[in-house]
Amino acid sequence: MDTRLKDKVALVTGGAQGIGRAISELFARHGAAVGILDIKAELAAQAAQEIAAAGGRAVGFGGDVSRRESFVETIAELERRFGRFDVLVNNAIWVRYGPIENITPEMLTRMVGTGFNSVVWGIQAAAPAMVRSGGGSIVNIASSAGFLGVPNAMLYCGVKAGVLGLTRSAAADLGPQGIRVNAVCPGSVLTEGVRINVTPEMMAQRIARAPLRRMGEVMDIAQAALFLASDESSFMTSEAMLVDGGVTNAFL
Ligand SMILES: NC(=O)c1ccc[n+]([C@@H]2O[C@H](COP(=O)([O-])OP(=O)(O)OC[C@H]3O[C@@H](n4cnc5c(N)ncnc54)[C@H](O)[C@@H]3O)[C@@H](O)[C@H]2O)c1
Repeated sequence: MDTRLKDKVALVTGGAQGIGRAISELFARHGAAVGILDIKAELAAQAAQEIAAAGGRAVGFGGDVSRRESFVETIAELERRFGRFDVLVNNAIWVRYGPIENITPEMLTRMVGTGFNSVVWGIQAAAPAMVRSGGGSIVNIASSAGFLGVPNAMLYCGVKAGVLGLTRSAAADLGPQGIRVNAVCPGSVLTEGVRINVTPEMMAQRIARAPLRRMGEVMDIAQAALFLASDESSFMTSEAMLVDGGVTNAFL
């Protein structure tokens, strides 16, 4: 058994599928008890069951991350069940790409609610629980889009740039209490969320422009989240770690 998160208690939002699911599995394999908070309650429960069947500890929670109470209730329940709380991964989001003229009030509310407000509420609810446990690590899944002007993605780029701002400020506020706050910034990874927004032609173009000439795998991102969650990164806070195959910094 790998032990980089031995005896830690973690919450992963959006852990029912995609990158969040891979993070949940990897954290459990490394000894953490993992709460999976997702709007897809059945899928979250199924993910938790499969982790348990593989010998890990996990609990699925159905809930909407844009609501403050979802975090308050879920973290309280994890503390009750496992006695402590150490790691929060803010991963969930609902995303739609599209031209500026197609943005509706509903899209704006939903994307900002799931991708930005959720990070605010997650950090707010996690911090006191982490203080009770002697410190902790918050990992925000941002995006290379937080640094870039991606065409047809004004809301997404804005939300992810905002998450990087939340990360830096929260790191300054919470560092003295032993809480580290970092971001992972993935490049393109083929998940359900991406299939909805990116055509096969766009994917082929992205691969052609990537120094490593491939898309990311969910485990590429999960490994970075594991490093930032674990004590191996104990002198890192306020960092935005690109895991994008070199795309953002290349001029190809
Ligand atoms: N896949 C990529 O290429 C890529 C690139 C850069 C950044 N990211 C980021 O990685 C994270 C995960 O992306 P993914 O591709 O795995 O996404 P995904 O769409 O496959 O999964 C997102 C998960 O969030 C959940 N979710 C959506 N709305 C929710 C809500 N209101 N409350 C609770 N849960 C909710 C979904 O049910 C789903 O399980 C996101 O923050 C995304 O922006 C992904």
